[in-house]
Amino acid sequence: MKILGLVGSPRKNSNTDLLVTAILAGAAKNKHTTEKVHLYTVDISACVDCRACKKGNLQCVLKDGMQKLYPKIQNANVIVFGTPLYWYGPSAKMKLLLDRLRPFIASKELKGKKAVLVVPSEEGADACNHTVGMFNLSLGYLEMTLVSVLLPKASEQAEIKKQPDVLRQAQTIGKHIK
Ligand SMILES: Cc1cc2nc3c(=O)[nH]c(=O)nc-3n(C[C@H](O)[C@H](O)[C@H](O)COP(=O)(O)O)c2cc1C
Repeated sequence: MKILGLVGSPRKNSNTDLLVTAILAGAAKNKHTTEKVHLYTVDISACVDCRACKKGNLQCVLKDGMQKLYPKIQNANVIVFGTPLYWYGPSAKMKLLLDRLRPFIASKELKGKKAVLVVPSEEGADACNHTVGMFNLSLGYLEMTLVSVLLPKASEQAEIKKQPDVLRQAQTIGKHIK
């Protein structure tokens, strides 16, 4: 299977990145093909609600970095959404990405795909309720299934390295992807 990891933190090699990497490493051990994309390196414009994606070929007409990312999303069997908690929601870049998944409402191309959500935050799991709810409802709307959620406490750059048990948990989530 193809597993696509989306890193929604601007900090490379920090908590979100390390957790997504661990999940992908676990998946790779089970011979899955993995790919990681740093969303902050992709030019993603805001959805302008033009509704072009509801007509004709059901594709987004905005010409930006998403045109290369859309095929990766379409070809993945499992998508790992990694975002730091920013004001009790996803990072702005992750939200831009989520808004741009709108073509898949009409095309239903994400139907049946699985998702994993990982959200490191300073305050920990309880602070992530709204974000988990938002992903659950949004992915459900796209007829995807959220199969695993990991909400560790971490704040400083790469602080998650001090919690090898959590990184192992992330690897295990990846290993159990099927
Ligand atoms: C703009 C901004 C908003 C944040 N908002 C929250 C928050 O609402 N709750 C929380 O627990 N942590 C918050 N944090 C802390 C981050 O979630 C935390 O540092 C996380 O580990 C960052 O992940 P990263 O290392 O992958 O970038 C915020 C950080 C930033 C920069």
